[in-house]
Amino acid sequence: MKKVVSLVGARPQFIKEAVIGAEVRRRNAWNHILVHSGQHYDANMSDIFFTELDMKQPDYFLGVGSGFHGKQTAEVLIKFEDLLLKEKPDLVLVYGDTNTTVAGALAASKLKIPVAHVEAGIRQSPKDMPEEINRVLTDHISKYLFCCSDLAAKNLEKEGITEGVFVAGDVMYDLYLKMKPRFTPKETREQYGLEEGRYIIATLHRDFNVDNQDSLRSILEGLVRVKKETGLEILLPIHPRTRKRIVEFGLGGLAGSLQATEPIGYLDLMSLTQDCAAVVTDSGGYQKEAYYAGKRAAVVMPDTGWREIVDSGWNILCGPKAEELAAGVASLSQTRHFPGSLFGNGNAGECIVSSLLA
Ligand code: UD1
Repeated sequence: MKKVVSLVGARPQFIKEAVIGAEVRRRNAWNHILVHSGQHYDANMSDIFFTELDMKQPDYFLGVGSGFHGKQTAEVLIKFEDLLLKEKPDLVLVYGDTNTTVAGALAASKLKIPVAHVEAGIRQSPKDMPEEINRVLTDHISKYLFCCSDLAAKNLEKEGITEGVFVAGDVMYDLYLKMKPRFTPKETREQYGLEEGRYIIATLHRDFNVDNQDSLRSILEGLVRVKKETGLEILLPIHPRTRKRIVEFGLGGLAGSLQATEPIGYLDLMSLTQDCAAVVTDSGGYQKEAYYAGKRAAVVMPDTGWREIVDSGWNILCGPKAEELAAGVASLSQTRHFPGSLFGNGNAGECIVSSLLA
């Protein structure tokens, strides 16, 4: 039986690993060693996903924590290399586009251990955003590249990557379908004191939005304006990076006029999304999950890796300006034809595991 080391570290990666780990267990496919880099470590950024998504506890915890990009990436690289030298796996699995992803792929490829990248081929501008750098580098040193769509495979082809590319679909869609019976929209909404269809969910954490005082202020002002103009409540689960910046920039008053909360786990966030009026987000994963829930999203980014949803007219892009945000959110109330399945059929996990076993 093959030995596979799977490396996770940040919130969106736990969600993706939950699908692959479950499929590996179901098929007893290989010896699956789960490694957590420790990039995310707060209970509501990490532990909650392991519990809610029935994941096995990590076999190793590298404890790298937060830091500047170089330091964080380097610490994963050093610690993960040691682990690979000890475990000698046949393959390393990495997910998405975080510092953990690129460090894991680099450590493995230098040791000539094949790398499989789940969510390969996503491209967006600005080209200097950390996630874009991470995904481009990871794709170029991976042997197996699992794409969510044909567009992602075409992006790879443009860069000369044609071997080992599989269009598998999105593991996040698999998880959404699997977990749907466990969503409790009414109960969760009531816990938050929210009425059906009468609230917007907003999440922000991108460095270019929240580390820039003008952008963060303007986005929060836009949300306050949306609240005033529409009468809708704005639920704002605050990522720790954003919380730090709100304090540093003295924006607590603006955030306080919205319904600000701690970060919310998967089940509660998806339950709340079922009954919301719309979503405002700069999260790659959540803009897709909103679409899976049949909700439209204003994506606060100059571009998105999930082009298909925007090209279909379902999600919209908007800049970090109060007026633009308010106008964008207002436009979401127009009805749109639901674009149907853009990222596979909910069997991406099965496809990825089968391809790696072949
Ligand atoms: C990271 C990923 C991003 C992903 C996001 C999901 C990179 C470059 N970015 O961004 O692609 O969309 O995770 O959330 O890898 N912090 C805590 N507790 C935690 C984790 C973080 O307080 O458990 C704070 C620290 O102050 C830290 C900051 O949040 O410095 C940012 O965390 P970091 O992991 O560096 O980046 P994210 O913004 O979370």
